[in-house]
Amino acid sequence: MSLQGKHIVLGITGSIAAYKSAHLIRLLIKKGAEVQIVITPAGKEFITPVTLSALSDRPVISEFFTSGDGTWHSHVDLGLWADLMIIAPATAATIGKMANGIADNMLITSYLSMKAPVFVAPAMDLDMYRHISTQRNIEKLKNDGAWIIDATEGELASHLEGKGRMEEPENIVAILEQFFSTRNNLLNKKIMITAGPTYERIDPVRFIGNFSSGKMGFALAEECSSRGAEVFLITGPTVLSVSHPNITRVNVESAVEMHDAAFNIFPQVDAAIFSAAVADYRPEKMSEEKIKRSEKEKFSLTLTSNPDIAASLGKIKEPYQLTIGFALETNNEEFNAIKKMEEKNFDFIVLNSLNDQGAGFGHDTNKVTILSRDGKKQSFSLKSKSEVAKDIIDTIFETTEARNKKLEV
Ligand code: C5P
Repeated sequence: MSLQGKHIVLGITGSIAAYKSAHLIRLLIKKGAEVQIVITPAGKEFITPVTLSALSDRPVISEFFTSGDGTWHSHVDLGLWADLMIIAPATAATIGKMANGIADNMLITSYLSMKAPVFVAPAMDLDMYRHISTQRNIEKLKNDGAWIIDATEGELASHLEGKGRMEEPENIVAILEQFFSTRNNLLNKKIMITAGPTYERIDPVRFIGNFSSGKMGFALAEECSSRGAEVFLITGPTVLSVSHPNITRVNVESAVEMHDAAFNIFPQVDAAIFSAAVADYRPEKMSEEKIKRSEKEKFSLTLTSNPDIAASLGKIKEPYQLTIGFALETNNEEFNAIKKMEEKNFDFIVLNSLNDQGAGFGHDTNKVTILSRDGKKQSFSLKSKSEVAKDIIDTIFETTEARNKKLEV
């Protein structure tokens, strides 16, 4: 892999880890990238612009104006020039300013004008990193679409061990290379994703629903669109929002509405991912008026079954269309998941078990096993849902690529 010809804006802030930036620049340039440094005033206390401009072979940008001749540095031009921006090291102060749009230096103004994806490698003392304010700002940045590169060392030993330390330059470069290599691998593909719960109305104020948050489906939508796909996200009620312009969001409430929307969209897509938690049953009749409390001890509702969206689309799917389902099982997990994959004619099924802490409904994390129709199985550790989305799409992409190659031979 390489970074040949990539324009990278490297933001450097006032952290002791700024010495690692020198090594990072050399690695980026070795991989073929052009690097433009933007440094904060505090950053210059830790590493000199002379060193940085010598390494990057470009003048370092640190002030709004060049002292002396008063030339203005255009952060807007920089935003257009860049293929990617990375802030490494990023201090708590810079992360806070980025999250809140406090544009009091060139680095933050460049960030605010940036048209390219932004990566952030935090570097600070562990207590500062752990502080609720820092965590809130990091979350905000993630929601704004930035990628956070946390130090990976120690992740297995303890959740926070090693965090706050800037990731090693070699690993940062590997992450950026991976990013560019997957970036457009779904270009010209259309993907439909169902997400969230369904609400089945009982009367005007009550419904039967479930605890699905929609987080997994939304993470998949962001991942697919960031790789160039056009995404149709059919979602039940959720508070989540989408950020990528390639996502067309279709809001539905009930299983029947989701079914109708999916049937309309499915014929034009290359793949469909069914991550919605669809209610199996709905009240046979919705009461037009609010049902009143009665003196009777018991109350019963008659339910009727909902359409199985995935299964019915599985029946009409064309050979070139891929379908991917989810299974949430509590017992005989793998056996039941494989059975479901066959019944619904999925090419892949993503199994998440309720037996795993932190996995499944409502959580920000998930732990999955991906099973494929060709009998392959891959298990992953507990990760954030956006990382799980990457794993899912990588696995599907790699397996289908390999399969297509076999067919070509
Ligand atoms: O049968 P079960 O609900 O466990 O199957 C789960 C898979 O089927 C998920 O991918 C889910 O989105 C999909 N499904 C569906 N329509 C339904 C029920 C489930 O698309 N009515």
